[in-house]
Amino acid sequence: MAIRGTFFSGLTLLFIGFLGFVCIPAEAATKKYQFDVQVKNVSRLCHAKPIVTVNGRFPGPTIFVKEGDRVQINVTNHAQYNMSIHWHGLKQYRNGWADGPAYITQCPVQTGSNYVYDFNVTGQRGTLWWHAHILWLRATVYGAIVILPKQGVPFPFPQPNREQTILLGEWWNTDVEEVVKEGTNLGVPPNMSDAHTINGKPGPLFPCSEKYTFAMEVELGKTYLLRIINAALNDELFFAIAGHNMTVVEIDAVYTKPFTTQALLIAPGQTTNVLVQANQVPNRYFMAARPFIDVPIPIDNRTATAILQYKGIPNTILPKLPILPASNDSSFVMSYNKKLRSLNTPTYPANVPLKVDRKLFYTIGLGRNDCPTCVNGTRLTASLNNISFVMPQIGLLQAHYFNTKGVFRTDFPDKPPTPFNYTGAPLTANLGTIQGTRLSKIAFNSTVELVLQDTSLLTVESHPFHLHGYNFFVVGTGIGNFDPAKDPAKYNLVDPPERNTVGVPTGGWTAIRFLADNPGVWFLHCHLELHTGWGLKTAFVVEDGPGKDQTILPPPKDLPQC
Ligand SMILES: *[C@@H]1O[C@H](CO)[C@@H](O)[C@H](O)[C@H]1NC(C)=O
Ligand SMILES: *[C@@H]1O[C@H](CO)[C@@H](O)[C@H](O)[C@H]1NC(C)=O
Ligand SMILES: *[C@@H]1O[C@H](CO)[C@@H](O)[C@H](O)[C@H]1NC(C)=O
Ligand SMILES: *[C@@H]1O[C@H](CO)[C@@H](O)[C@H](O)[C@H]1NC(C)=O
Ligand SMILES: *[C@@H]1O[C@H](CO)[C@@H](O)[C@H](O)[C@H]1NC(C)=O
Ligand SMILES: *[C@@H]1O[C@H](CO)[C@@H](O)[C@H](O)[C@H]1NC(C)=O
Ligand SMILES: *[C@@H]1O[C@H](CO)[C@@H](O)[C@H](O)[C@H]1NC(C)=O
Ligand SMILES: *[C@@H]1O[C@H](CO)[C@@H](O)[C@H](O)[C@H]1NC(C)=O
Ligand SMILES: *[C@@H]1O[C@H](CO)[C@@H](O)[C@H](O)[C@H]1NC(C)=O
Ligand SMILES: *[C@@H]1O[C@H](CO)[C@@H](O)[C@H](O)[C@H]1NC(C)=O
Ligand SMILES: *[C@@H]1O[C@H](CO)[C@@H](O)[C@H](O)[C@H]1NC(C)=O
Ligand SMILES: *[C@@H]1O[C@H](CO)[C@@H](O)[C@H](O)[C@H]1NC(C)=O
Repeated sequence: MAIRGTFFSGLTLLFIGFLGFVCIPAEAATKKYQFDVQVKNVSRLCHAKPIVTVNGRFPGPTIFVKEGDRVQINVTNHAQYNMSIHWHGLKQYRNGWADGPAYITQCPVQTGSNYVYDFNVTGQRGTLWWHAHILWLRATVYGAIVILPKQGVPFPFPQPNREQTILLGEWWNTDVEEVVKEGTNLGVPPNMSDAHTINGKPGPLFPCSEKYTFAMEVELGKTYLLRIINAALNDELFFAIAGHNMTVVEIDAVYTKPFTTQALLIAPGQTTNVLVQANQVPNRYFMAARPFIDVPIPIDNRTATAILQYKGIPNTILPKLPILPASNDSSFVMSYNKKLRSLNTPTYPANVPLKVDRKLFYTIGLGRNDCPTCVNGTRLTASLNNISFVMPQIGLLQAHYFNTKGVFRTDFPDKPPTPFNYTGAPLTANLGTIQGTRLSKIAFNSTVELVLQDTSLLTVESHPFHLHGYNFFVVGTGIGNFDPAKDPAKYNLVDPPERNTVGVPTGGWTAIRFLADNPGVWFLHCHLELHTGWGLKTAFVVEDGPGKDQTILPPPKDLPQC
């Protein structure tokens, strides 16, 4: 590895988002943003190519708000693709119209049109993010959302001196939409990415990266809050900083019991806030991100790096690489996940549903359906309870709200149609699935338990699942088949992690619980874009409650039409 001193001379030191730099008014306010979706030529790894951006920036702008603020984001689409943007992790109470997934809660914002996402940030504070929720455009259309606590409310951990967003991503040298189209036409996985990135930059382990290395300057003795976001499309990532431990204090905008770790795991869709103390010998240290994959599936396993640079240290010093867990280290992952616990204090309680009204058991399957025009005569597919979700032609929320018939059915089964030994020997025959736009109806204010069970249909694999409109509690997880007689006794109903995206382990299961108090149509899907595209998704139709303030709000006047 030829890393030379002068290699980094063109390095740009970026300092976005430290406290005090961004002006935030004291009172709850309406914060307005203009998001111009436009194509811009961007160069990485010696390849310049046009990419879809927001305001010409990659990654896109950070949204800074305070808990209680109203946010209005005018998304104007100047690109040739249809667009929609999801505010990942914001609960959007009664307000699915602002949630963003195309054809689920809205029709896309078409070329030349605009739509104002108008929502309130209520009862949430921490790090979330936004991203395109149509096609694979989120590869380049993403950014951070920082929700500061209300004025005068401190963090429940030592106040950092400064903070920094760290967005992990994936980069393709060619047009991502062409890559996906090719995969879909052939019926096989599309080409994997060419690099991982940290704040849009792959770092010096990749060619032509002199100018494309993110660096963060630190001062000895100071404490930094890193707001880490995994915006990658298909890869769960390990992250570490050479020579420095990290104290995890928040996940998915929910405070956790602090714990210290040398490395962390973050799945696509998740966020993790850590405190880092600049308490080492002043030097230059690499931060690094690399995938976790514990099955023999080819993925982009390259390491993205960025630099933690102590003030006064010249750019010519060679940084040290951190030690990351081995790519297939599932035992690290299991023990790391076990340390994640809600803070569960009187101010930040963990209101875990103790009684369950509705029990759901969904199997996750990969499969193969016929495709006469595909390279193998088959096309890879994915399903929940053996149903591969078919995208509708209009938004499901509109169809539900206006009672439009024939768009979707609400007969998604509560359990797999045919039980089998889910994680037994790999099943490679009869991999066909049922296709349909089938949703599950949930009574208002009922408590739901959903067990997501991985299967050996084609192959076991780890799947990060994301639920829109809610946080949920991760009450249990295990390897093998979920045992409804024995496993619930081992649940953590006291301080389980509360989040919006959770990994279902390879050949295992995860149980989540939530209170269905947010009426609307809420997407549930694997956050690996590859699997979402193959149909690993469905949605909950949460019914209106009896009260006036328990119904879906009327749609905004500028809601895009199909
Ligand atoms: C963008 O780069 C391509 C080459 O990759 C070039 O053909 C095109 O003219 C550039 N467009 C702009 C607007 O600079
Ligand atoms: C949104 O942006 C577009 C394009 O800049 C502009 O024409 C439109 O008036 C804006 N809408 C609002 C509500 O600000
Ligand atoms: C947001 O809060 C404001 C002020 O309370 C209210 O007028 C508005 O309707 C709310 N919007 C949504 C989408 O709930
Ligand atoms: C995918 O990779 C193959 C092999 O490297 C290459 O020939 C092909 O052009 C790539 N496809 C796209 C859309 O970039
Ligand atoms: C990091 O934590 C490990 C385990 O707790 C400890 O052994 C090590 O000394 C710590 N390193 C630093 C730099 O604080
Ligand atoms: C990375 O993936 C390539 C092929 O996809 C493989 O040859 C290589 O062994 C992998 N490296 C690691 C460290 O897993
Ligand atoms: C991880 O991969 C290595 C080879 O790269 C192998 O020796 C080891 O057994 C694997 N570990 C697990 C837990 O699969
Ligand atoms: C489909 O065909 C491609 C190209 O011949 C091959 O690489 C791939 O392994 C095949 N996949 C399946 C699932 O049969
Ligand atoms: C399921 O398959 C596994 C692995 O083949 C086997 O050990 C287990 O006994 C099977 N379970 C049942 C209930 O058949
Ligand atoms: C899924 O449905 C297909 C089509 O009806 C069927 O052939 C297959 O056996 C089912 N698979 C499972 C695992 O239930
Ligand atoms: C929801 O149900 C809980 C009991 O589980 C009850 O205490 C609460 O009042 C209900 N809320 C609404 C809005 O109906
Ligand atoms: C954009 O969305 C509209 C509405 O769904 C659809 O009719 C049109 O075909 C889409 N355009 C493209 C380029 O995908």
